Amino acid sequence: MRKIILGLVVSIVAVGSAHARSVWDGVYTEDQAARGATAYQQNCGRCHGPELAGTFEVPPLVGRFVPYWSGSTLDVLVDYITHAMPLGRTGSLSPATNTDITAFILKSNGFPAGPKELSAQGVDQKAITFDATKKKRAKKH
Ligand code: HEC
Repeated sequence: MRKIILGLVVSIVAVGSAHARSVWDGVYTEDQAARGATAYQQNCGRCHGPELAGTFEVPPLVGRFVPYWSGSTLDVLVDYITHAMPLGRTGSLSPATNTDITAFILKSNGFPAGPKELSAQGVDQKAITFDATKKKRAKKH
């Protein structure tokens, strides 16, 4: 079911946005990821682990996490965190905090920081694709 929803969102985005960016384009700042790290350790680390490695019962937020979410857009991930996490206290964190935590998760998976913070607006997050591998861009003539 989740895959179907992801597929729908991805095709809407593909049609709707001419200037699509990806998580390889520096979509968060170092400061934001640092705030996110603190919020992560307070709200998520207990289950997902201080290194995001997960446990037998809790999925990791690094490693196979990336191919699993690849092809999605960032709003889908933030939405999931907003509505399903932190497990047992869902919906307890603000959009800004969930966005900071997402920046920290991106950094933890080796996606580069950039000059501008990741916006907490779903519409902005929807324009950013979550790609496991960096896509080669066609050169402009
Ligand atoms: C009480 C334990 C617990 C806490 C706290 C918690 N999680 Fe989770 N998380 C889980 C479990 C268990 C799953 C698997 C849920 C499922 O498969 O339905 C999960 C799944 C996820 C997933 C989906 C991973 C995937 O690849 O399927 C993400 C993303 C996530 N959590 C992020 C967070 C974030 C961010 C926080 C903090 C804001 C957080 N979680 C707090 C237990 C927790």
